Amino acid sequence: MNLLKKGILRLEWAREHMDVMKDIRKELKENGILEGVRISMALHVEAKTGILALTLQEIGAKVRLASCNPLSTDDSVAVALNEEYDLETFARKGEDSEEYYRNLNSVLDLNPQIVIDDGADLIFLLHTDRKDLAGNIWGANEETTTGVVRLRALEKEGRLSFPVIDVNDAYMKHLFDNRYGTGQSTFDGIFTATNLLIAGKTFVVGGYGWCGRGIAMRAKGLGADVIVTEVDPIKAIEARMDGFRVMPMIEAVKEADFIVSATGCKDIVRKEHFEAIKDGAVLANSGHFDNEISKKDLEEMAASVRKVRDFVDEYILKNGKKIYLLGEGRLINLAAGQGHPVEIMDMSFAIQALSAAYIAENYENMEIKVHQVPYEIDEKVARIKLKSMGIGIDELTPEQIKYVNEWREGT
Ligand code: ADE
Repeated sequence: MNLLKKGILRLEWAREHMDVMKDIRKELKENGILEGVRISMALHVEAKTGILALTLQEIGAKVRLASCNPLSTDDSVAVALNEEYDLETFARKGEDSEEYYRNLNSVLDLNPQIVIDDGADLIFLLHTDRKDLAGNIWGANEETTTGVVRLRALEKEGRLSFPVIDVNDAYMKHLFDNRYGTGQSTFDGIFTATNLLIAGKTFVVGGYGWCGRGIAMRAKGLGADVIVTEVDPIKAIEARMDGFRVMPMIEAVKEADFIVSATGCKDIVRKEHFEAIKDGAVLANSGHFDNEISKKDLEEMAASVRKVRDFVDEYILKNGKKIYLLGEGRLINLAAGQGHPVEIMDMSFAIQALSAAYIAENYENMEIKVHQVPYEIDEKVARIKLKSMGIGIDELTPEQIKYVNEWREGT
């Protein structure tokens, strides 16, 4: 199938399964809040992202889209967005650093009022090379944990120059996207890259945030013996009580068949770990940046490197051990897999669209800081999703509402 046709069909498939976005599209079209608004986006360019971008375009916004990662683009979708839907898309799988930043700059050339970012590279540019555009920005949305961590550091230094909404921490985002989305799509990537069995293997998960929880849960479901590594004592206890072994990475690597990092920090697996690692271990990263597994250390320690399958590089270390690195250490669920499942991104992107509309309506009164997603947006998305699943829930009676709201005796 040629790229264009494949991309059109992938977009149609995603649209067909994004029920929440369908409702949101209707509402935003009717209220016209985003009509004529210029929106620059840097997200993983694949089918679900395409539906978010097309939705914004269909409700009257002027949209440009680039990829937030050099290796995550679905080229068929990028071609279809450009050629079939006239949506200006600047993305290609396998961009080098120069092309990556050229594309980010091209979406900023729109002179946006709203920015939708994943990982905060667009927002970073608006605070460095493209500072001249920052004064026109009403506000920005940030999709992912790593981006929010960067933005909180910028806010703490007093250097944030427009309001940002932390979409990642909306309940309807992290509870499902980070946990069940990453849980499933990480294995989509590992299966595609390796065709190896998980059952009976020792599977190490670096980090027990919402993403790590999802990966560990799914690894257990697939029959692996799961080890979690953590630096946070509370999360470590949670992992233990969820039934996983917990130990430092330096111990875990000795028995690992698979190691997957999902921490948002760097050097989770580094020189000292490569020295102690089990021969033949398969390493992958599900965090936003490709610095969780130190490629620099791996390259320095390697006697040879060769590509043995699509998305699998075999490193033979000077001590003779073999290590397999998947997807060049870039987030494996998009480098080799197809990203989070459609129904998951439906909820995350509904939060994105409604948060963009919130900025358009409220930017004049928004403080320059990192904002939480208003609870009403979270609740609205949850109600639409429940309705689409055909699930009804109870409502409090007037007496119950009174009961939970009054100060009373404890009987
Ligand atoms: N598809 C689009 N954006 C994604 C993200 N941040 N994670 C996984 N899949 C995605």
